[in-house]
Amino acid sequence: AHPHFSQNENFALVQNGIVENYQELRGKLKTKGYSFHTETDTEVIVRLIEENLKQTHNLKEAITKSFNELKGRNAIVVINKENKTIYAARNGSPLMLGIGDNDFILASDPSPLLKHTKQIIFLDDHELVTLGDNYQIHNLTTNQQIQKEVQTLTWDVEQAQKGNYEHFMLKEIMEQKHTLAQAIIQDPELIKNIAKEINLAFGVYAVGCGTAGKVCLAGTYAFSEIAKKHINFAFGSEFPNFHHFIQSRSLLLVVSQSGETADTLEAMQTVQEKNGKVVSLVNVMGSTIMRKSDYSLLINAGPEIAVASTKATTSQLALTILLAYACAGRYEDGLALLKQTAQEVTLMLNNQLQENLKKLAQQIKDRNDLYIIGRGANYPMALEAAIKIQEVSYIHAEGFAGGELKHGPIALIEQGTPCLALIANDETKQDMLSNTIEIKSRGAYIIGVSPENNEVFDYWIKVPDVGIA
Ligand code: M6R
Repeated sequence: AHPHFSQNENFALVQNGIVENYQELRGKLKTKGYSFHTETDTEVIVRLIEENLKQTHNLKEAITKSFNELKGRNAIVVINKENKTIYAARNGSPLMLGIGDNDFILASDPSPLLKHTKQIIFLDDHELVTLGDNYQIHNLTTNQQIQKEVQTLTWDVEQAQKGNYEHFMLKEIMEQKHTLAQAIIQDPELIKNIAKEINLAFGVYAVGCGTAGKVCLAGTYAFSEIAKKHINFAFGSEFPNFHHFIQSRSLLLVVSQSGETADTLEAMQTVQEKNGKVVSLVNVMGSTIMRKSDYSLLINAGPEIAVASTKATTSQLALTILLAYACAGRYEDGLALLKQTAQEVTLMLNNQLQENLKKLAQQIKDRNDLYIIGRGANYPMALEAAIKIQEVSYIHAEGFAGGELKHGPIALIEQGTPCLALIANDETKQDMLSNTIEIKSRGAYIIGVSPENNEVFDYWIKVPDVGIA
C-alpha cells in the first residue's frame, strides 16, 4: 500500500507505525475538502502535509509541523520529486541512516544496510533527517541542527546473507553452533557489576515482548533456582500497569533482539522516569535500548533476519542464566556450564536431526491444532514453542504449564492431536510424565522433547542434558 502520493504527485511518503489520532485528523481534513482514496492512516499523513504546505510553502516545514501533530509511534520517509530531497522523521518507530560511499540509505533495522555500508546513525525520537548531497539532522521540536555519532557495525555482510541455506530461519537455527558460545564471551567484571546492581535493587523486573518476553519469564525460574532470587516478569506492553511499584531502587532487566521495540522502550521510560536503573540484553549494537540503558550486554548473535527469533533467543537465555549465576556469586560455574551447553548444542544440530524433523513435520502438518506443555523453566519454553509454530506454520498452537492442562484445556485434545511434551531431567520430570499420560489417554499424539525416551512418547526428539551447576 506504500508509497502514498500527494495529489499533485510532487511528493511520496512511506510510513512505519500507527497514527493513533488519524480519525480525528481525517475528519478535520475532510471538512477542508480533502477526499481520501484509502482507509489508511498513511494517506492522512500525506493530506496533512499537503494542508500544512499551503501555509508554510516549504515541504520540510510542512513535514515537521505535520509530524508533530501525529499521535502514536511513527517513522516516515518523504521524497520530494522536484529537488529529489528525502526527509525522514522518527517518533517511537525505529529509523536509521546508513552512510555509503555515494549514497544514503534509510531503514528500520541495520540488517538490510549491511550490504551497502557499516556506517550507521541511529535516529532518536523527534529527529528529522534531510538527505540531499549530504545529510542534516534537526530536532523536530526545537528545529536545532544536531551532530550525531556515526556508529560502525561490527557485523559482516556474509552474516546477512542466506548462503546455501533454503531460508534465513534455518540458517539462524544452524548458527546456534556458534552463537551460544559467542553470547557468553563477555567482560566478567561488567557481568559481576551488573549482578551487584541486581542484588542491591529493591524490586527487579524482567521485561521483553513476544519471544524476548518468554526469555524473561524463563529468567524468573533461572534466578529463583540458581540465585534464590525473586524477580518479577511482565511483557513490555503490560509493564506500565505496575508503575505504582517502581521507585529509584527498582531495576529493569530488559531483553530485546532489535533493541528498538516500542513497548519495551515504554517500559524503560516508566522506570527511568522514577530514576530506576535499566540493564539490557540486546543484539543490535547502538540500538535505542542499548543507548538508553545504564548497563547493556550484547548477545553477539549476529544479524537475525528471519522474523521468527531463534538464535537470538537461545543467546538471550544463555546470558540470563549467566547473570543468575553471577548473582549467586558463581559466575565461573555458570560460564563452564554454558560452555558445555554450547558444545552439546553444536553436536545436536546435525543433518540427521533435520531429516527426522522434516519427516515428523510431514506427519503433523495437516492438523489444525497443536499443544505444547512444560513445567518449570520449560513452561515459558512451551509458550515460546507455540509462537514459533504459529508464525512459521500458521497452525493454531498453544503452550500450557503441564499442571494446568487438566484445569480445562485438556478438553481440546482429540484423537491424534499432536502434543509436544518438554520434559527435563529434573524434579518436574515425574509430574510432566503424568501430565503426558493424561493427554495421551485423550488420544494425543505425543512428541516427547527430552534427554531420555519414554514409552508414553509416540515420537522422541532427543535433546542434551547438561544439568545444573
Ligand atoms: O526485537 P525484540 O526482541 O524486542 O522483539 C520482540 C518481539 O517482537 C520478538 O521477540 C518476536 O516475538 C519474535 N521475533 C517472534 O519470533
